[in-house]
Amino acid sequence: MASITIRNLDDEVKELLRRLAAENNRSMEEQARVMIRAAVDGQIGPGRIDQIEKTLRELTSSPSAATPVAALAGKIVPRGTLSGKRILLIIGGGIAAYKALDLIRRLRERGAAVRVVMTAAAQEFVTTLSVGALSADHVFTELFDRNDEHDVGHIRLSREADLLVVAPATADLMAKLANGHANDLASTVLLATDKPVLMAPAMNPKMWSHLATRRNRATLGKDGVTFVGPARGEMAESNEAGEGRMAEPLEIVAAVEALLYAGPKPLTGRKIIVTSGPTHEPIDPVRYIANRSSGKQGHAIAAALARLGADVRLVSGPVSIADPAGVKTIHVERAQEMRDAVERLLPADAAVFVAAVADWRSENSAGEKIKKVAGEGPPVLRMVENPDILAGVGHHSQRPGLVVGFAAETQDLLRNAQAKLAKKGADLIVANDVSHESGIGPSGVMGGDRNRVRIVSKAGVEEWPEMTKDEVAARLAALIAERLKAIVV
Ligand code: CTP
Repeated sequence: MASITIRNLDDEVKELLRRLAAENNRSMEEQARVMIRAAVDGQIGPGRIDQIEKTLRELTSSPSAATPVAALAGKIVPRGTLSGKRILLIIGGGIAAYKALDLIRRLRERGAAVRVVMTAAAQEFVTTLSVGALSADHVFTELFDRNDEHDVGHIRLSREADLLVVAPATADLMAKLANGHANDLASTVLLATDKPVLMAPAMNPKMWSHLATRRNRATLGKDGVTFVGPARGEMAESNEAGEGRMAEPLEIVAAVEALLYAGPKPLTGRKIIVTSGPTHEPIDPVRYIANRSSGKQGHAIAAALARLGADVRLVSGPVSIADPAGVKTIHVERAQEMRDAVERLLPADAAVFVAAVADWRSENSAGEKIKKVAGEGPPVLRMVENPDILAGVGHHSQRPGLVVGFAAETQDLLRNAQAKLAKKGADLIVANDVSHESGIGPSGVMGGDRNRVRIVSKAGVEEWPEMTKDEVAARLAALIAERLKAIVV
């Protein structure tokens, strides 16, 4: 179940929800879900919404209450970014198949119609019953099912969709498509389609790094298949970690939105560099200095710029989230590696520095693990300053036409941001408050999903309201497109 943050709603809407929930003997969250589900499922037509709004207004003592249902929907439900889109989801057999259930819900929440094909192996992990209940459609499993009244044939199945999503994409499904096999419904549909295909691989790290899988991944990439993930991190099997964890449902949804996005692409032909995530500065082969950056904001910006048509090069420090779809991602660990990667990418039209680069590194990282030696006490680390990547590019002979920095501050936000603008040679600084008092999200801005920023430029300061990191990304991408319009190359 998606979590609904009642506390983020307007007071007026909250009050209405409280009354309705009490009347129906439901929790406020449950009441909101019931209303949203009814609206999404089309059970509430436009006339009915008007009627409910009228009733809601009568329920409230304030005659000026603005359209509460619309307000409520706008606050909690992601607007219909996929409305009218038809997605054929192929669920492969892997422990990550359970995440496909949430993926179906997330896609439908956004207005997409989701039809599902499950491989035989997938049915060992999740049941057709739960998949069918969530997709509200028949679940397709057999290639030849003459008794099945729902049988629409594999050709129609694959052609009636706008996009095919394979999640989890197992090593087997990847191998089948890379080599043109068609011996079950899933592989046949994939081979028969003339629609774009998005794969979210999920497998054991050893299987992912196997040369055969690497080869298949490269072949599929050349054939035009788009990939989202896999991410690094703990695997479902105990004691296994590495690259192979399936991208999270919302990351897959973002990739779907990017592929199906049909809006204007004002950044076509523009090359934009983005840095994201923390850096890890080694102390010895097993220890490092790091910070709390999750990479969520930087990755979301890279994805939003790509959606607007930019050729995005993302230089990412170590993060546990998936590479955004449609973005060329370069993985680095240390600040010096990040600087070198960024400089190799110049020239570019714009650069956005979101990474939380470590300001210092240990002067001499030890080649071997530093051991505790009885009587010697703890080692003393001498720190030296890391290169300032933003300042380097801001004053570079190949400086991009637009340079955007971030300023993470716990105090004197605006003064510090303005100082950074001048010192680092940036055109814009996106300033955010990372203090505990910022109160955004359960773990604050760093690691959380929400952000509240101010855009600082020579022209002044623009305050943006609190929103999700995806919304900040979309708005910043639009601002960058606007600013680049004025820069003719
Ligand atoms: N930045 C960078 N290279 C560094 C340090 C910071 O590119 N070595 C960039 C960040 O990506 C961000 C901006 O500079 O866009 C500001 O980062 P921030 O950590 O807020 O500032 P610092 O320069 O590190 O200054 P301080 O930590 O003293 O606030």
